[in-house]
Amino acid sequence: MHRRDPADRDRQANHWVISLAKQKFLAALGGEPQSVPPIWIMRQAGRYLPEYREIRQTAASFLDFCYSPDLAVEATMQPIRRYGFDAAILFSDILVVPDAMGQEVGFETGRGPVLVPVGDRAGIAGLDPARTVDYLAPVYETVGRLRADLPTEVSLIGFAGAPWTVATYMVEGGTSRTFENVKSLAFGDPDLFDDLIERLIEATTAHLNAQIEAGVDAVQLFDTWAGALPENELKRWSLNPIRRIAAALKAAHPEVPVIAFPRGAGVAYAAFAACPEIDALSLDHSITRDWAAKHLQPHAALQGNLDPIRVVAGGEGMLQEADAIVDAFSAGGHVFNLAHGVIPQTPPEHVAALVDHIRSRGS
Ligand code: CP3
Repeated sequence: MHRRDPADRDRQANHWVISLAKQKFLAALGGEPQSVPPIWIMRQAGRYLPEYREIRQTAASFLDFCYSPDLAVEATMQPIRRYGFDAAILFSDILVVPDAMGQEVGFETGRGPVLVPVGDRAGIAGLDPARTVDYLAPVYETVGRLRADLPTEVSLIGFAGAPWTVATYMVEGGTSRTFENVKSLAFGDPDLFDDLIERLIEATTAHLNAQIEAGVDAVQLFDTWAGALPENELKRWSLNPIRRIAAALKAAHPEVPVIAFPRGAGVAYAAFAACPEIDALSLDHSITRDWAAKHLQPHAALQGNLDPIRVVAGGEGMLQEADAIVDAFSAGGHVFNLAHGVIPQTPPEHVAALVDHIRSRGS
């Protein structure tokens, strides 16, 4: 058995103490108010940045890009260099999990994700969650390199799609407006749909544990389409799977914070806040701030809420709205972020103005 030199172990322990002490993002997720909130923005690496568009051309496909550690490390670092965010998010995608389980996944320019849909018993039985960690080895290599390259005070966020949202892409074969196929399957044959969700819980837990073991400091579960589900089904297929994944991660790595983003869940956000396994919630723009500060923040740190179109528009409106968010959440754990991903039309200088404005509140 390989034995580590005790001096080595001390250095490692010291490293974690130093990085924890320096990471404002982790302190905020732990519920400690900060004089200026830590900042990162969802989809901060991507097409609104000219430097991303340039390196994107060097890969044959988007998935090849995600599986090339050199490119994925560079894309992750670009917004950190440009804006000095408090956290970096691993450059990857939520659809690497179905790809790893054996579904055919592609991305077409102008159309987004295109998958060969699954939905019958044979198709679902053919998905193998046990392949996930071997298949996604390049992603964990990217994480390890990033944690070594990033300054200790910058946190590294790992992520995955929540089972329900990933299932919508798997059953619909891409992005949907109506969710007709996935809801017909879920409502018509809930036991079969549970089989798909169970496979996703297993794969997603393994994928997030592997990211943590490779070096991420926190993880976020994106349930982008939670709002498409009615009350009982939201509990069954959004809340319960997220909770089970978070509990499994906590059992293995109790120190790593878990952020959930049940976008569009409305007052059901309160049920997520009540789960002790969930440390923080990312808010969409429909949640009213007073309600969130009163009913969610005592139980979970809060992140998000700024409508991404505000950042496309820029100017005073964007800054006033940002101030309203910081003021509403200043009494508890708060991470400044958008209500959904930054969109490709966003002028990069508007993001710079937003970050400068929030940081200047501290001086
Ligand atoms: O900076 C970051 O946040 C890191 C990377 C990241 C990507 N996707 C890169 C990406 C993250 C966290 C995601 C999450 C993701 N992917 C979600 C959840 C968050 C959300 O926005 O709701 C979803 C639903 C997906 C699925 C997905 N991937 C879609 C619908 C698309 C096409 C349309 C779009 O929004 O871009 C993608 C492709 C994708 N993922 C791109 C990037 C940079 C663009 C593809 C390209 O550059 O060719």
